[in-house]
Amino acid sequence: MVEMTEMTNWAVDLIGVRKRYRGGVDALRGVNIQVGQGEIFGLLGPNGAGKTTLVKIMMTVIRPSNALGTILGRPIGNSRKLARIGYLPESHRFPPYLTGAQLLNYYAALARVPRKLRKSRSGDLLERMGMSKWANTTISKYSKGMMQRLGLAQALMNDPDLIVLDEPTDGVDPMGRRDIRELLLDLKKQGKTVLINSHLLGELEMVCDRVSILVDGLVARQGTLKELTEQSKEYRIVVDGDLAPLDAQVKSIGGRVMTGAVMLRGHDSEKVNAVIDLLRQNGHLIESVEKRRFSLEDVFVKAMASAATAPNSAAQGQTSRAGSKVNR
Ligand SMILES: Nc1ncnc2c1ncn2[C@@H]1O[C@H](COP(=O)(O)OP(=O)(O)O)[C@@H](O)[C@H]1O
Ligand SMILES: [Mg+2]
Repeated sequence: MVEMTEMTNWAVDLIGVRKRYRGGVDALRGVNIQVGQGEIFGLLGPNGAGKTTLVKIMMTVIRPSNALGTILGRPIGNSRKLARIGYLPESHRFPPYLTGAQLLNYYAALARVPRKLRKSRSGDLLERMGMSKWANTTISKYSKGMMQRLGLAQALMNDPDLIVLDEPTDGVDPMGRRDIRELLLDLKKQGKTVLINSHLLGELEMVCDRVSILVDGLVARQGTLKELTEQSKEYRIVVDGDLAPLDAQVKSIGGRVMTGAVMLRGHDSEKVNAVIDLLRQNGHLIESVEKRRFSLEDVFVKAMASAATAPNSAAQGQTSRAGSKVNR
C-alpha cells in the first residue's frame, strides 16, 4: 500500500513498457521511467532507440504491447489527465494555409479555452515564443525553427501540468535553442513537469534535472547528470620529456603514463600532488594540470557501445533499477 501512494508522487511512472510493431520490430523491450513532479527530464538516445514510440504510447497515439504505470497519478490513457498534458509531436505538420494566429485559435478551441479568451491566449503564446511578428503570416512561409516555436505555443495552449516535447530543438538555430532552454526553465519555475526527447546532447545537459539514456529499446542509464558523470573524473597532467622511465612509479600511485601526459582517475588531490612531486623530482616541467570530468556525451557514447556489445547487460541494469525503485 505504501508503494502505491509513493508511485503516484511521480508525474510519470512507467513500468515495463514494451512495444512490438507489426512486422516484428521490438521498439521497446521493457522500459521503466520515472519523472518527478516539477522536473525537467531528458529522454536521450540515438535515432531509432524508441523515444518517439514511448511518447506516442504516453499520448495514446499508439498502443503498447505491454505497459503498467501512471501519468499524473492515473493510468495511461485517462482522458482527464490527457487534457492536462501538452504535446509537441516529432516532425509535426500544420495546415500550411493557416496563419500562426489562426492555428493557435483553432488549438485554443480544441483545448476548450473560452471563445472570448482564445485570441488573447494565442497572442500571449506567440509573444512568449517570439513569434508576434509572424502571427498573421501563413505557415507555408515559416522556417523549421518557426514551426517548432509554433508547435511549442500549441503545446502550452491548455496550460498543461506535464509537457511532452519530442525533439523540440530539431532544425532550430543556436539562438532559438537557447530560447527553448530558457522556456523550459521558465516552465519549471512555474512548477510544471517537462519530459523532453532528444538525440542531441549538448543543449540538454544544461537544463535537465535527470536523464534516461535509451538504447535499442532499453534504458541503459538513468539518473541525475551528476550521478551519470560521477565516476568519470580525472586529472590530466601535461609534462615535457620522456615519461616512459617513470611508468612503474606512476602506476604505483594509480596513474597512467601517456605521451606527454599523465592521467589519473578520480579527483584525489593527494594523489595528484604525489604524481606532480614525482615528475618534478625527476626533472620534468609541468605544463598544466587539468581537472576533468567526462561529459554526458562520453557517458552516452559508452552506454551505446556497451549496449551494442552486450545487449543483455542493459536489460539486467534495467531490472535491478526497477527492483530498487519498488523497495524505496
Ligand atoms: N510505425 C512503425 N512501424 C514499424 N516500426 C516502427 C514504426 N515506428 C517506429 N518503428 C521502429 O521502431 C524503432 C524505434 O523508433 P522510434 O521510436 O521512432 O525511435 P526514436 O524516436 O528514438 O528515434 C525503430 O527501429 C523504428 O524503425
Ligand atoms: Mg524520435
